[in-house]
Amino acid sequence: MTGIYFSGTGNTKFCAEEFLRCYDGSGRAVSIEDNQAETLLLEEEEILLAYPVYGSDLPRIMKEFLEKQKEHFVGKRVFILATMAMFSGDGAGCAARFLKKQGAVILGGLHVIMPDCISDELVLTKTDEENSRIVKAARQKLKLAAQALQEGRPPADGLGFGARMAGFLVQRMWFGLLAGRCTGKLKINADTCVGCGKCAAGCPMENLRMEEGKAEAGKNCTLCYRCVNRCPAQAITLLGKRVVKQNDIAKYVTGDAEDSGKASFPFAGKE
Ligand SMILES: Cc1cc2nc3c(=O)[nH]c(=O)nc-3n(C[C@H](O)[C@H](O)[C@H](O)COP(=O)(O)O)c2cc1C
Ligand code: SF4
Ligand code: SF4
Repeated sequence: MTGIYFSGTGNTKFCAEEFLRCYDGSGRAVSIEDNQAETLLLEEEEILLAYPVYGSDLPRIMKEFLEKQKEHFVGKRVFILATMAMFSGDGAGCAARFLKKQGAVILGGLHVIMPDCISDELVLTKTDEENSRIVKAARQKLKLAAQALQEGRPPADGLGFGARMAGFLVQRMWFGLLAGRCTGKLKINADTCVGCGKCAAGCPMENLRMEEGKAEAGKNCTLCYRCVNRCPAQAITLLGKRVVKQNDIAKYVTGDAEDSGKASFPFAGKE
């Protein structure tokens, strides 16, 4: 099984790698930002598709990837992993329905609670200890789900009709409008920006550029929160007005060497 994922701030990348390690240890996970993703999709028969849930929906960047690659999913066996901070009705179901229409076989779905990546005020802010507990529980869930898939009884989180209704009524109905409005709303505080360029270098949408030593945002944001979480000056906000706590999955992974596995962290550059 090969993993293809999008991860704004590292949670989903971590979960995809953990899942594959527990599943058969041989598969690797590649971001949709990597040119190899398309090649892998063509070559592999069994795919782990992973992404964070935004308002019980897929990130726009993932929707665009699936739309572009849809004919490559014909006949593929796909297991869907969706990460979230609290709740998603049908986070996994959204991609499942789309891919099924394209002719993919959906093996199952998994919802995994991870630390919140929305780091500016509107957050479910947690302490480092709480986040470590969340990640520990997530790893246990990933391990059990990988075993269950191996044994032919995969989980089906978010795939049923009730989940679809919950996702639509509780979140997707209103979040779609908010997401549409926010795509050009990223704010950069020019007074605190130190011009390091990290945000522009890492943006998966090429929505940020450096102008006279300061970062500037365009109107093509996928709301991934990568720049907000990486900015060393905490100069970037999106839904809120002030950065409260930047998400840092590397800090929350605890456990012994056997537990820590091969999962890696995505902070060096683009994914
Ligand atoms: C724009 C946006 C919307 C989100 N919506 C939800 C949501 O509806 N439910 C939820 O539980 N978490 C939500 N989250 C939290 C993320 O899904 C969660 O933190 C995820 O693990 C981040 O993964 P990543 O680090 O791979 O980007 C949202 C995050 C963002 C940025
Ligand atoms: S990461 Fe922050 S400090 Fe660095 S250029 Fe971007 S906004 Fe400025
Ligand atoms: S501008 Fe920031 S939040 Fe928007 S897509 Fe780029 S990195 Fe993600």
